[in-house]
Amino acid sequence: MLAGIMPDTITIRRPDDWHLHLRDGAMLRAVLPHTARQFARAIVMPNLVPSVTDIASAVAYRERILAALPAGAEFTPLMTCYLTDATDPAEVERGFRTDVFAAVKLYPAKATTNSAAGVTDIARTMPVLERMAAIGMPLLIHGEVTDPAIDIFDREAVFIERTLAPLHRSLPELKIVLEHATTGDAVDFVRSAGPSVAATITAHHLVINRNAIFAGGLRPHLYCLPVAKRETHRLALRRAATSGSDKFFLGTDSAPHPIHDKESACGCAGIFTAPAALEIYAQVFDEENALDRFETFASLAGPRFYGLPPNEATVTLRRASWRVPERIAAEPGPVMPFLGGEEVAWRIE
Ligand code: NCD
Ligand code: ZN
Ligand code: ZN
Repeated sequence: MLAGIMPDTITIRRPDDWHLHLRDGAMLRAVLPHTARQFARAIVMPNLVPSVTDIASAVAYRERILAALPAGAEFTPLMTCYLTDATDPAEVERGFRTDVFAAVKLYPAKATTNSAAGVTDIARTMPVLERMAAIGMPLLIHGEVTDPAIDIFDREAVFIERTLAPLHRSLPELKIVLEHATTGDAVDFVRSAGPSVAATITAHHLVINRNAIFAGGLRPHLYCLPVAKRETHRLALRRAATSGSDKFFLGTDSAPHPIHDKESACGCAGIFTAPAALEIYAQVFDEENALDRFETFASLAGPRFYGLPPNEATVTLRRASWRVPERIAAEPGPVMPFLGGEEVAWRIE
């Protein structure tokens, strides 16, 4: 693109969200329309209570999602299987072959919201991971150690060193997505790893660094896991997302919690980005003079990694500022969107 020429519209193939929390029941009905407005498909996280650990519960959850779609919406949920110490490799393979499971999700036990049933020791899951490597099924990882002796800002980097790098060495053909990468360490690891390793990057980690959580007072709506890191890491994420590399793609990790659970003595981790996610990413790419690489990040690299065709339909975004709503009505209480009440410079037509 010529320096100084700033396009006012951009048309790309319809994007997908490769990391999304839709919850269930009334919350699902409140948040799903925001995602369906922007994205054709989404990888739906299985951390419900109880979690989605088998084919039957994934099929039932997918039905509830489809039933909650607004009339006329074109949206396909891609389901995931919550990995536990007891997951059966045969169930995982059957779910993959019958197009119920698009991937398996690994939460280290107690690493994040609703991860109590997660994996206590990755060695116990090796039969499942070996089966997945054999059939080409992706493993999606919340990459943080839970060792309380490790500083919270180091938990991703230490996970890469202690768990992820050894796993990739022992099963190099296993497709792995390091979800919601937050550090330069993650970017370096993914770049240097083989083609079976990729990462998603959230909109919020491209916008805020850890100072934002403490700007003028404690900002619970900017608290998520992995927690935002120093500015150097945010800049590394921006370079990775806008690099044009196929190894980094869009995953919002939009994670709604009612305001009363965020503004609490022990506030929940999770940032609700769905209402303006694609527009915020577009603004970031514009700021980085990388709009010509936006389609790769948002619409091409993810399907390529998952072995799915890119979407045929297109979406046009226009440079036109609008205000993100301050609240979205939901049950059991309203939710506060990321950048709620603030202006975003791009808008979907
Ligand atoms: C997510 C949630 O609320 O489900 N929270 C978060 O802070 N990202 C869980 C997760 O993705 O780790
Ligand atoms: Zn996570
Ligand atoms: Zn998540």
